[in-house]
Amino acid sequence: MNRLNWGDLTPEKFLNEYWQKKPLLIKNAFRDFTDPITPDELAGLAMEEGLESRIISHKNKSNWQVQHGPFESFDQFGEQNWTLLMQAVNNFSKKTHALLSHFNFVPSWRIDDVMVSYSTPNGGVGAHLDQYDVFIIQGAGKRRWQVGLPDPTLTELIPHQDLKQISPFEPYIDEITEAGDLLYIPPNHPHNGISIENSMNFSIGFQAPNSQELWSTFTDKLIDQNRGEQRFNDKDRKLAADPALLSQEDIGSLKNFMLSQLEDENFFSEFIGNYLTQCHHPLEILVPVTPFTTDDIKQLIDEGDVVFYKVSGIKSLFVNQPNNALHFNGESFDLDTDTDSETVASLLANEQCLTVKEFKSFSVCLKKLTLLTNLLNKGYWYIE
Ligand code: SIN
Ligand code: CO
Repeated sequence: MNRLNWGDLTPEKFLNEYWQKKPLLIKNAFRDFTDPITPDELAGLAMEEGLESRIISHKNKSNWQVQHGPFESFDQFGEQNWTLLMQAVNNFSKKTHALLSHFNFVPSWRIDDVMVSYSTPNGGVGAHLDQYDVFIIQGAGKRRWQVGLPDPTLTELIPHQDLKQISPFEPYIDEITEAGDLLYIPPNHPHNGISIENSMNFSIGFQAPNSQELWSTFTDKLIDQNRGEQRFNDKDRKLAADPALLSQEDIGSLKNFMLSQLEDENFFSEFIGNYLTQCHHPLEILVPVTPFTTDDIKQLIDEGDVVFYKVSGIKSLFVNQPNNALHFNGESFDLDTDTDSETVASLLANEQCLTVKEFKSFSVCLKKLTLLTNLLNKGYWYIE
């Protein structure tokens, strides 16, 4: 597929001027864009058990309905006024996953999934807000997209218990999108996409943890690992001025006592790396029936014609400070401190597939073979 054509912008300018600040439409961002998945293939996924699909329909903007998949048939929905939305299509379609390569100017830990929608004429989810950034690529067909600016006077509407909308808003962008156009919508900006004809949209959705989730997961980890059980101490205590007063000094000491848990850099890094690589959508992980040994993998590599594949949509990242670690699907794998280890970690975290040639130069060391063997035995990488 053609590269993202930024026009007068660059990714750097985009980050400075638009990212989390202003909506943007780039017309013809992808020349000759072709859908990485067809409406029929999408419908096929929506018929599968355990995947996240919804159909939102309306009758002349009233009587909104939300139905959840799996669907047995789509006949009942007719020719117009409905949209099929499917989360994390990138976990089941490698070509859809490949769209993410255009957005690698933002680290992959910020990306959640690629949601795909198929909308019939007049179909859409209605005006609403999202808490996350999104890039929407217009695929086949045309859609009218309106995006407004944050407006505290907008009111929330709930036309159906599973559907949050907002009152009509003043559009800042109001355009008809065509194949290859790219829309960027920052969090909490009202937007509404109404299909003009049968159309496909590919939404690159981002994720951003909230502080509450971070604190609660962090404290769960403290409890799991029996950390933080020591008691507050105050051996330098001075005479109390008023026994009922909780002094500023004591408040400060108690706060620092709590914060000291965050200051163990290795512990925090392991926590955050694992946290950010947890996947919130179903994945196709197949654990091998018989685990591989490092000898099996060495032999496969020596034979030379094997290709290793990473599970589509699985979250991975690596950390090089304070410790070297590779994080995969909420787990961490220790690495050596040499530069080869960092290169291997970067390959395993960035690439979707690796040939023996790409891996071979690093595979001399048993520790790196052990790492690949572990990942294969977890089913996070596989051999086809
Ligand atoms: C879509 O209908 O494809 C996108 C829905 C949204 O605005 O979140
Ligand atoms: Co939205």
